[in-house]
Amino acid sequence: AFPGKVKIVEVGPRDGLQNEKTLVPTEAKIKLINMLSESGLSVIEATSFVSPKWVPQMADQVEVMKGISRKPGVTYQVLTPNLQGFQAAVKAGAPEVAIFGAASELFSKKNINCSVDESLQRFDEVMKAAKEAGVPVRGYVSCVVGCPYEGKVAPEKVAHVAKRLYSMGCYEISLGDTIGVGTPGSMTKMLEAVIKEVPVSALAVHCHDTYGQALANILVALQMGISVVDSSVAGLGGCPYAQGASGNVSTEDVVYMLHGLGIQTGVDLSKLMDAGAFICRTLNRKTSSKVAQAACKL
Ligand code: HMG
Ligand code: MG
Repeated sequence: AFPGKVKIVEVGPRDGLQNEKTLVPTEAKIKLINMLSESGLSVIEATSFVSPKWVPQMADQVEVMKGISRKPGVTYQVLTPNLQGFQAAVKAGAPEVAIFGAASELFSKKNINCSVDESLQRFDEVMKAAKEAGVPVRGYVSCVVGCPYEGKVAPEKVAHVAKRLYSMGCYEISLGDTIGVGTPGSMTKMLEAVIKEVPVSALAVHCHDTYGQALANILVALQMGISVVDSSVAGLGGCPYAQGASGNVSTEDVVYMLHGLGIQTGVDLSKLMDAGAFICRTLNRKTSSKVAQAACKL
């Protein structure tokens, strides 16, 4: 049976924009987040407190956090790879943070410049500080079915890292198909392994749509009891450390599918599409959302 309600975590302003080569004006980022807030989304990943040398697009993280209109009931979460990022995030008023690890050693090295074990030690430090500050922490596992450097990833590896993040105190673990290679087949095997170690109520899926499998993979996850889905308005996104990784599944398409299944999201599709149209105009880009494309032709 499907869940009656799904929480969508909108990652467009972070995952969607981090891969853009040319710097997006801070004002446009702020306007995008404000429009997304108005659409009824309850969680928006606003930016990341990572090194500006690594991801120049996110260098305006403080201005973004200071500039947005915070709508009551909306959580504005940010990525923090280490204690330095965590402290800066709290200072800028982030109410919630996310740590991000990987199930693959080479991806961990390329993305956050340390091994998986080293990353877990860093996350432990972040977690301790977050507990003291009363800041909830989400955890990501990247490369849950495939890695751009190592190829196929064993479900047991994913389960291991997910369990470590959960035991550490992450309230939710988002399973990232970073390069979008998963299918309902490999996704099911991976989720079966993870569900043995982490309660399904604490799991989320984060599907990039590189191979066009994202909606099918999400459907499988919903059937297995997962009720949190990450997505990105207009299907923006990618990871600078995963060559060829295309955008996340688009939020418009996820909302359309969920509403079609009679599942509540709290999202107003038409307002969401306005936000998508705004960011596509700003980036001078065609939307990757099929629903938005269809609506334009009607
Ligand atoms: P490092 O170079 O090993 O860091 O980078 P370090 O500790 O040796 O410090 C080197 C310099 O970085 C120092 O500055 C530090 O101050 C600075 P310097 O003395 O040279 O001037 N530094 C920082 N600056 C700002 N904020 C910080 C910070 N930490 C150190 N937090 C580090 C390690 C983790 C910082 C780096 O590798 C990094 O920033 N990586 C981020 C990569 C990233 O953002 N990737 C994309 C997000 S993950 C993703 O997209 C996947 C996801 O969507 C799920 C999925 O799809 O699978 C979540
Ligand atoms: Mg991602």
